[in-house]
Amino acid sequence: MGRILVTGAAGFIGSHTTERLLADGHTVLGVDNFRSGHRHNLTAALRQSAFRLVEADVAAADAVDRLAAGFQPDAIIHLAALVSVQESIRDPELNHRLNVTATERVAAAALAHGVRRIVFASSAAIYGDTTDLPIREETEKAPISPYGAAKLHAEGLLLGLAAQGVTVRCHRYFNVFGPRQDPASPYSGVISIFDRRYREGRGVTIYGDGRQTRDFISVHDVARANAIAATQPGIGSGAANICTGRATSLLEIVGIFARHYPQAPAPRFEPGRPGDIIHSRGRAERAEAELGFTAQVPVAEGLAELIRVG
Ligand SMILES: NC(=O)c1ccc[n+]([C@@H]2O[C@H](COP(=O)([O-])OP(=O)(O)OC[C@H]3O[C@@H](n4cnc5c(N)ncnc54)[C@H](O)[C@@H]3O)[C@@H](O)[C@H]2O)c1
Repeated sequence: MGRILVTGAAGFIGSHTTERLLADGHTVLGVDNFRSGHRHNLTAALRQSAFRLVEADVAAADAVDRLAAGFQPDAIIHLAALVSVQESIRDPELNHRLNVTATERVAAAALAHGVRRIVFASSAAIYGDTTDLPIREETEKAPISPYGAAKLHAEGLLLGLAAQGVTVRCHRYFNVFGPRQDPASPYSGVISIFDRRYREGRGVTIYGDGRQTRDFISVHDVARANAIAATQPGIGSGAANICTGRATSLLEIVGIFARHYPQAPAPRFEPGRPGDIIHSRGRAERAEAELGFTAQVPVAEGLAELIRVG
């Protein structure tokens, strides 16, 4: 069984990844500064002796180095980041510190302490607003925010390490959804916002005709992809989309919520906003070929769980 250091462990994806690793029998050290994550996301994990949580800023000069020196991880799953596209536009310097400098610290610590693998939370944001669908890993990288640009740069930094003998996997997540996603964050995505509004008995507003589509992937699938990449033998370096390969429209999402909340008001339609992306969908085959990973949770099932547990 492996020893895995998870940065951003108290976040949405980090807490599910930690739980997946613990369930698989690994020992996990989580690090988080609680910038956008919460200790209560790890309530279940903290009951297990194979888990420890440290409060630290991974962008600070020697924080990850000290943790790696003490814990001697086999792999680092690096999820800590500034996650808001809007915030990256407002404060590009902070975006650079949290999304690039922090990644450099992880890379340096891995090299210094013989860590064999790094799994990095990249994003479909590196592709920008391409209309060339499905989005393949070879699709032109044209980020349209400092956030997307930093993720692309961080991928390059880490993949450059692969030549030094560290196996690096860059996971380009599409639209992740599930329990513990913070609906207050503008980055959060439509499903957690809809969930909160239905829960509060309020109707939702759809901008456009609702036929716009996204490639929604359950956080449980994402956590499994992270665990596979960090722990399974025989995996080489590379970058792959972590997506389902399927498009789901907002009308379908609202239809599922409406079945669970039959008393809810009908959705309101407002004109689409300029610049809104109409369709997005990834090609999922590379993750299958290189990691043996395919998404398994159907959107309707993932939504039913979200509605049940919140
Ligand atoms: N949720 C999605 O749909 C999605 C899509 C693409 C990429 N991602 C990426 O996945 C990763 C996890 O995102 P999430 O949705 O779980 O967001 P999140 O905000 O819930 O998790 C990020 C975690 O990192 C922590 N953190 C931030 N800066 C830190 C620092 N300097 N030191 C220590 N901890 C720090 C936060 O407190 C938080 O717990 C991020 O790298 C994000 O960019 C997410």
